[in-house]
Amino acid sequence: MSADRSLYQALREYAAGGVYPCHMPGHKRNPAAGEMAAFFDIDITEIEGFDNLHHAEGILKEAQERANRLYGAEETFFLVNGSTGGILAAVMAAARPGEEILIARNCHRSVYHAALMQNFKVHYYQPKLIEEYDICDGVNAEEIGRLLDEHPAVKAVVITSPTYEGILSDVAGIAAEVHARDKILIVDAAHGAHLGLLAGIGADLVIHSLHKTLPSPTQTALLHVNGRRADRDRLRCYLAMVQSSSPSYILMAGMDACVRFLEKEGQERFAFFREQREMFHQKTKNLRHIRIGEMTEVSQKKAASVGWDIGKILISVKDTGMTGKQLADELRDVYQIELEMAAATYGLALMTFMDTAEGWQRLADALLRIDDRIEKERGGGQMRQATRNVADRLQQESGAVNAAVLRSESKTGKDAAYAAADIPEAVMTLAQAFHSEQEEVLLQEAAGRVSADFINLYPPGIPLAAPGERLTRELLDGIAESMRKGFTVQGLSPAGRIRVVVEIPEKIWHY
Ligand SMILES: Cc1ncc(COP(=O)(O)O)c(C=O)c1O
Repeated sequence: MSADRSLYQALREYAAGGVYPCHMPGHKRNPAAGEMAAFFDIDITEIEGFDNLHHAEGILKEAQERANRLYGAEETFFLVNGSTGGILAAVMAAARPGEEILIARNCHRSVYHAALMQNFKVHYYQPKLIEEYDICDGVNAEEIGRLLDEHPAVKAVVITSPTYEGILSDVAGIAAEVHARDKILIVDAAHGAHLGLLAGIGADLVIHSLHKTLPSPTQTALLHVNGRRADRDRLRCYLAMVQSSSPSYILMAGMDACVRFLEKEGQERFAFFREQREMFHQKTKNLRHIRIGEMTEVSQKKAASVGWDIGKILISVKDTGMTGKQLADELRDVYQIELEMAAATYGLALMTFMDTAEGWQRLADALLRIDDRIEKERGGGQMRQATRNVADRLQQESGAVNAAVLRSESKTGKDAAYAAADIPEAVMTLAQAFHSEQEEVLLQEAAGRVSADFINLYPPGIPLAAPGERLTRELLDGIAESMRKGFTVQGLSPAGRIRVVVEIPEKIWHY
């Protein structure tokens, strides 16, 4: 194709060309094919002239090379199953079954799933908490070096930067530690496609969700490869295993269009974005109760983070008497603003360079009004129904789970955040636990048993226990304590039960 003709244009021209499809997809681009038919006319398969993503030599090769030029990696792959597919392939390709990897404990579930499928033995880096905001700090480079010295058999390191909440780690520093020991560094930068490769500099593999922060369809993502440490042939094999053999041309045209849009309008739009962000900051810097997450606050605490993505607006309602969920509800019900996420003590707004000045203004105005309301209510000494003690409310609302869990009395007296600090002892791999015979027991009766599931704490979004880890009384008390304090704990049944291992099959890995 001509370098100037986008994949979308090529698909449009083909649709208008009148060739009759005696091939997949079954809708045959027929306008009578139901209420979604309008989307079908450019939904083709690997026909002549349209290349094959898994052996790209033509139009798709060129589109990937265009993305590659924009990002400046050595090689870039289109992903049609989100960053999830890229992470699965990258992590699975990084070591052989049964080998060891080191991951940050707050990694996305896809990292754990890759480790599970390869029966990796996993070592963890535990990020600290940024207590002002109840979120995970970045990853400390020296600590990664120390852990690699402690576990020399580790083949690859996986970290997340930026995190969901926007916290950036010193990837170049971490890469130096990892490469000094000749290991592979994989950076899950799913939330940082708009930051370019600058935020992932030095890593062997970087994964970007285009759809999260850029104008690209949901499920589209990129995998960038640098250097020779990662085995690219293995990587290609795993990409072909975890992704569809019929990748959607609508999604691929979406990626190509996104890259072209960035080339053409990126600079200008980013300048507008920065301007709007600064105006938002000026408007909200004098909020009295609500606090907007600020890097300056984080750096004062000697955190490992080196930056905070300005597109992630963390709206902290800690100590305001409000929960993040209440904030999100009020923003939706009163101001018609839908947040990206609500946690116990904060809400998260995701802003991109596609946000309008009106959108920024609405968010700022709404926060100012909510802050005023809090001020009035506090000033008048009144306490709204909704601002009753957070834990009391959550206990009432969440019913059975909490009721069951809360019967187990806390003996630790430690802060809920403490629970995230200790990683339980792993007595078997994720895979061994997954393939074992399992049963459900009440949380308070699970001490000494081996977890068969993930128990996740939100915030900060970290597993308190992973499959294969021994559940101690202290950990179970920490879970109860966390729930009492209004943190969300996932991984328990509605009746407050937890899946544990009954018996490990003798021959999982010996065929
Ligand atoms: C840190 C992180 N990594 C990876 C993913 C997976 O990305 P995708 O939805 O593009 O598959 C997510 C999804 O939310 C995520 O938060």
